[in-house]
Amino acid sequence: MEPGQVAIVGSGLIGRSWAMVFAAGGFKVKLYDVAQQQLTSALESIRKQMKELEKSGFLKGALSVEQQLALISVCTDLKAAVEGATFIQECTPENLELKKKIFSQLDLMVGDNAILSSSTSCLLPSKLFTGLKHVKQCIVSHPVNPPYYVPLVEIVPHPETDPSTTERTYALMKKIGQSPVKLNKEIEGFVLNRLQYAVISEAWRLVGEGVVSPADLDLVMSDGLGMRYAFIGPLETMHLNAEGISNYCERYREGMRLVLNTFGPVPEFSGEAEQKISQAMSEKIPVVPKVLDARREWRDECLAGLSKLKKQMKSD
Ligand code: NAI
Repeated sequence: MEPGQVAIVGSGLIGRSWAMVFAAGGFKVKLYDVAQQQLTSALESIRKQMKELEKSGFLKGALSVEQQLALISVCTDLKAAVEGATFIQECTPENLELKKKIFSQLDLMVGDNAILSSSTSCLLPSKLFTGLKHVKQCIVSHPVNPPYYVPLVEIVPHPETDPSTTERTYALMKKIGQSPVKLNKEIEGFVLNRLQYAVISEAWRLVGEGVVSPADLDLVMSDGLGMRYAFIGPLETMHLNAEGISNYCERYREGMRLVLNTFGPVPEFSGEAEQKISQAMSEKIPVVPKVLDARREWRDECLAGLSKLKKQMKSD
């Protein structure tokens, strides 16, 4: 797909981040929202973030801040927003009825070439797109927050999505510097959240049962597992931690199964464990907008630095 025009529907947290990613890739971006105030604040925050990124050397793409900003325009007319767009990324609130309504409007506006893509975190393509005239052109492109710093995008087709839609979306994501993965079929939670929930679930049980403190539990990830997972996944970890996968299974199969059989049922995520974890987290990071925002900014700086390091260390 040649650099062209994309439309972003919904200019909240994710919509504005997508706008920055596409502008960095040289695409003209039309940002649409029902709320003018959201668009105004989106433009302000994009400008501010780009300036800061430029200062710290983390601005993406070959264009200057002003050139990237010039590629982004805003509008409150959906038809005008999608006119001429070859790719439309929907980023409205996670509400099935709302998203279905928006996709049925878009279905009437687009031709046979544009791709209709959703940022949804957990709504299945079969729930979102079934019955649309342009279902072959529909797909989920699930980003990770914040997409500007965390490049992974899960591409999840509807059973009737044309393979060329999947391929074009994959190629587009590569082109703008994201890291796409393709799911061959839809599944609740896609892949990222299934892995994330498996980790959260065991973290919750370990703290809830008093095995480890909330602070130490988080350290196990940030100073332990997470260090290697930023570079290699769990399967490659197995491969490298023995003489290949088969040797790993031979050595650790029994031990793994023994431990896994002691995992408890799905936690309720309420009651005593919730209070304990909430208290510990709130002592470390009080739930006050200014404090939370400062911590999020620090997290994003860390992620930007990590992404630079990953580029330097790239081995494939
Ligand atoms: P948000 O609440 O920050 O933004 C939603 C935006 O949609 C707001 O600007 C709102 O004014 C606008 N909107 C509401 N109704 C609309 C309509 N009819 N037409 C156009 N715009 C409309 O939400 P956020 O966090 O940006 O999430 C957007 C999508 O991205 C959701 O589907 C969410 O599941 C997904 N997502 C969110 C992630 C996150 O961590 N926040 C991560 C990955 C995906």
